[in-house]
Amino acid sequence: MSRRSLLAVLASRFGGGKALRPVRAAAEEGAFPADFVWGASTSSYQIEGAVEEDGRGKSIWDVFSHTPGLVKGGDTGDVACDHYHRWLEDVEWLARGGFNAYRFSTAWPRILPTGSGVVEKRGLDFYDRLVDALLGRGVTPWLCLYHWDLPQALQDEGGWTKRDIAPKFADYARIVAQRLGDRVKHWAMFNEANVHAFFGYGMGTHAPGVKGLDNMLAAAHHQNLAQGYALQALRAERSDLRLGTVINVQPVRPSSDSAEDHKAATRFDAFWNGAFLDPLLKGAYPGAVAEEFAPLIAAGDLATIHQMVDFLGVNYYSRMHIADAPDSLLGAWWGAVPDGTHFTAIGWPITPDGLYEELTALHARYGNLELYVTENGACFDDHIEPDGTVHDDDRVGFLREHLAAAQRAIADGVNLRGYFVWSLLDNFEWAEGFSRRFGIIYVDFQTLKRTPKASFTFLADSIKRRG
Ligand code: FCB
Repeated sequence: MSRRSLLAVLASRFGGGKALRPVRAAAEEGAFPADFVWGASTSSYQIEGAVEEDGRGKSIWDVFSHTPGLVKGGDTGDVACDHYHRWLEDVEWLARGGFNAYRFSTAWPRILPTGSGVVEKRGLDFYDRLVDALLGRGVTPWLCLYHWDLPQALQDEGGWTKRDIAPKFADYARIVAQRLGDRVKHWAMFNEANVHAFFGYGMGTHAPGVKGLDNMLAAAHHQNLAQGYALQALRAERSDLRLGTVINVQPVRPSSDSAEDHKAATRFDAFWNGAFLDPLLKGAYPGAVAEEFAPLIAAGDLATIHQMVDFLGVNYYSRMHIADAPDSLLGAWWGAVPDGTHFTAIGWPITPDGLYEELTALHARYGNLELYVTENGACFDDHIEPDGTVHDDDRVGFLREHLAAAQRAIADGVNLRGYFVWSLLDNFEWAEGFSRRFGIIYVDFQTLKRTPKASFTFLADSIKRRG
């Protein structure tokens, strides 16, 4: 079961489906700092399409999505939003919305079709054009090096389960920085290494469809290691880059007061959040999972992983309530949520105060680290009205409440410097295909026409007022 359908089941089991909370007024407006970063996020496989063009190699998501039964509706990213051809229009939308930043990812198999060795110049040329267009319109590019589209050739050698992939990632990072580092100053190494390890290498419900606890732990450790090498490589390459990474961090609570659920929540938190944050920021795996990681750690690994970062990107969607589940991957699994919880259309609980909780907890645990919300957004069943507009008032309400939570965190001293909405466009939502819309711009997947939703206007107005 995918995380999406799993949570949908939980929603209907425990929360009564997708009742929506009314749109509430934002907390005090105008309290964001003047230099606050207002961005939108996307990722390569989810929007680009053009999978056979300009020498691009296959990624694990091409292979996974073309395997019958793995993605809802048999959807693939072959065309997606056709951003590879419509990128200029998408840049115009960013400019029209007043966004001063755009977080996108580069596709490793566009740049190194077999993962290492021969560089495909046309792949680099694409991102080069994109970066210049962004800068030309006053939009700062934030480049993420890995948003899950691993070259299939590397997966054929074991992918993230094998440690020799780590230096290859650093080589790839260096190649991209040599081409774009003169203009791109903000670099995220990974997007959500935790989600990738969990669903791609543990549950097998995301590409590459690998299963089992050992594979998941290996994928986690080797991504951590690759990140350490890449951070070192980029620092050596240029001294003027702002380097960081992006993690899906969610506060974890036990589903009940039972001792078992408490234990399960601690374990889940140690894997989901701690196993990615602690090695990077403190140089050690959290106690609750340290023994399991120990066999994977070679001499020097923890020193390599423990790097200075200039920022941490926080992808926040909802608080997690975790219950004891002995037969599950980690012995801990999503459980009952408090009565009265509301859900998005994908079944994820709406918990804006969890964003405040997460940001303040990160501040308390890791010090005055520069934080950015690098993804936050919601899935709703949008449709175009006869007059051509999209009234996604639920999403407006969601964004308003989360921005208010971010504002409260800043007021309480958290070093939060920016907020990127997920996502600029409706797109290929992984194992859910095109059935789940997260965009602030509606995409008709037949005609590829873009239509800004009410949430686009809401953010544009917010940026204008507060920016
Ligand atoms: C995040 C992913 C992103 C998208 C959103 C909804 O976990 O980083 O690609 O799938 O969830």
